[in-house]
Amino acid sequence: MTQIVNTIKEGDCIELMGEMPEGCVDLIITDPPFAIDFKAARHNYNRNGDRVLEGYNEVEADDYLAFTLQWLDAATRVLKESGSMYIFSGWNHLKDLLIAIDQCNLTTVNHLIWKYQFGVVTKRKFVTSHYHCLFVCKNDKKRKFYPYCRFNKDAKTENGGSAHYKDKEDVWEIKREYWQGAIKTPTKLPAELIAKILDYSSQKGDVVLDPFLGSGQVAVVSKMKGRGYIGFEIVREYYEFARERLESGKYLIQKAKAEPSWDLFATDA
Ligand SMILES: C[S@@+](CC[C@H](N)C(=O)[O-])C[C@H]1O[C@@H](n2cnc3c(N)ncnc32)[C@H](O)[C@@H]1O
Repeated sequence: MTQIVNTIKEGDCIELMGEMPEGCVDLIITDPPFAIDFKAARHNYNRNGDRVLEGYNEVEADDYLAFTLQWLDAATRVLKESGSMYIFSGWNHLKDLLIAIDQCNLTTVNHLIWKYQFGVVTKRKFVTSHYHCLFVCKNDKKRKFYPYCRFNKDAKTENGGSAHYKDKEDVWEIKREYWQGAIKTPTKLPAELIAKILDYSSQKGDVVLDPFLGSGQVAVVSKMKGRGYIGFEIVREYYEFARERLESGKYLIQKAKAEPSWDLFATDA
C-alpha cells in the first residue's frame, strides 16, 4: 500500500481500484465524466490563443448508470469504514448517481450545492450556475468530521453571525479559477473547494483518492495540504499534465478570479 500513496497512474480507474487493498483510503473526492456532448459544448470555451487539452474521455449517456455502478462499487471497496466520499455531478445524470449510491449501500450525509459564477447567457432557459456534490459514507457513526477546522466556536461573520455555522451551510459559493500557464483543462475544480472538503473530512497524513484526476487538482491540493494522494486518469495527456504539476511543484493554482463565460451544460447561448 505504501508504494501507491503519493503516486498517480495512467489507466482505467475501475481496473486500478481493483488492484488496491480493501479499506485503504480515508477520503475520496471526485468529479467523474458527465455524459454530455462535450465537444458540442466546447464552443463555449472561447479563449483565443490558449491551449486547452483535448481528448477528455467521455461516457455515453446510455452507459452512464452501468459505468457509475461499476466505479462507485470499486471506490466503496477501497474506502475505509471511517472514510467519506464527495462526488460532484451536474444535474443531467444526477439520478444515475443517486441510484448507484443506494445500490452500493452508501449513506448520504449531505447533498451540497456548489454555486459558481458566470454561466453562459441563455435565451430559452435559466443559466446553470451550480453543481451537485454528494457527501456520502460507509458508516455514519465512524466517519470523521472536524466541525471547527476553519472557524472556532466564537468566530463571527461580518454581520455578527456564527462563522462556523455559515461555513457549514450546504450551499457553497466558490469562484472558478483562472489557469496560470499556457496549458489548460476545461473542467478544473477550484482549489478552494477541494481545500474545504479536505479540512472538514481529513487530517494531515490521511490518504485521499481521486479516480478521475483530470488536471490533477485533487491530488495537487491534497499534497499542498499535507495529505497522501492517489489518483488515476485514463487520458495520457491529462495524466502527464497532472504528473508534471505534482512533480515540478509548479502547482499552477491561482486565487479565484472571474472565469470567462462558459458552462458545460448551458449550450443554449
Ligand atoms: C470531469 S473530469 C475531472 C476534472 C478534475 N476534477 C479536475 O479538477 O481537473 C473527469 C476525468 O475523468 C477521466 N476519465 C474518464 N473515464 C475514466 C476512467 N475510466 N478511468 C480514469 N479516468 C477516467 C476523463 O478523461 C477526465 O479527465
